[in-house]
Amino acid sequence: MNVFLEPNCDEKLKGLELHIEAVMSGKKLVIPDFSAREVLVLDLKLHPPKKGLSFKDGQARLLHDLASIELQAMELALRTLTEYEGLNPQFQEEMIQLIKSEASHFSLCLRTLRDWGFNWGDWPVHLALWNAVSKEDTLEERIFIVHRYLEGSGLDAADTILRRLKGLEVPTQAMEVLTIITAEEIGHVQFGSHWFHEFCRQKKLDSDQEFRSILQRKRHSLPKRVEPINFELRKKALFNDFEIQELNQLRESFLSKDKSYVRGC
Ligand SMILES: [Fe+2]
Ligand SMILES: [Fe+2]
Repeated sequence: MNVFLEPNCDEKLKGLELHIEAVMSGKKLVIPDFSAREVLVLDLKLHPPKKGLSFKDGQARLLHDLASIELQAMELALRTLTEYEGLNPQFQEEMIQLIKSEASHFSLCLRTLRDWGFNWGDWPVHLALWNAVSKEDTLEERIFIVHRYLEGSGLDAADTILRRLKGLEVPTQAMEVLTIITAEEIGHVQFGSHWFHEFCRQKKLDSDQEFRSILQRKRHSLPKRVEPINFELRKKALFNDFEIQELNQLRESFLSKDKSYVRGC
C-alpha cells in the first residue's frame, strides 16, 4: 500500500496503517511528484469565489478547504517518515502519532461534510502545501516548512476564522470541528518547534540563525501568508521572540508585494 499513489480519499485513510508498517519494516516506497487525488486539483488562484460563512454552503466550503489541508498535512508527515532514513526513534514515534492525528482531522471534516449532504470533490482542491516541500529539503528544513511554517500559519488562520464563526447568529458545528482541530494543532507545532531546536542543538547550530537562514532560502517557495501572527498561540507552540519577529517581517514583505496566500495546516 502506498497512500501517495491511491487517489480515493477513503482508501487513503484505510491504507494508512499498512503504509506506516511498510516504512517501519524498511520497505522503500515511491514518493511521486504529486500525491494522487480523485477530485479536481486546481491552482488556488483558479478556485471559485467563496460564499459567506452565514450560508450553510459557505461553511461546507470552509470544511472542504480544511479537509484538503488536513489531507495534505497527513501526507506531508507521512512523506517525512517515508523519505528520510535513519530517523531518531522517538521522533519517528511522535511523527506516527501526528500522522494519525491529521488523519482523524481529515475524517472529521469528511464526516461532517457528508452529514450535511456534501461530498469530497464538491469543490476543487489544491496541492499548495504538498508543493511547498522538495526532495532536496534537509530534515531541519522539512520540519521547519511543514510543522513550523505551514502548521504554525494554520494556527494564526484558525484563530481568525474561529472569531468569525463565533460572530454568527446561529451556532454551527463548523466551530466545534475547528475548535477540536486547533487544540490538537498546537501540539503538532510544538512537535515541530521541539525537534527543530533539538536537531539544531545536536548539529551545534544556532537555532535563531538557522530559522532566519531557512526562512530566507525558502521564502519564494512557501505559500504567502498575510494573517496577523497570533503571538499567544505561537508562544504556546514554542516560538521564541526572535522567530516571531522574523515571521512578522516576512508577513510585512508579503503584504507589501503580493496578497495571494493559502491557509496552513
Ligand atoms: Fe490537522
Ligand atoms: Fe497538524
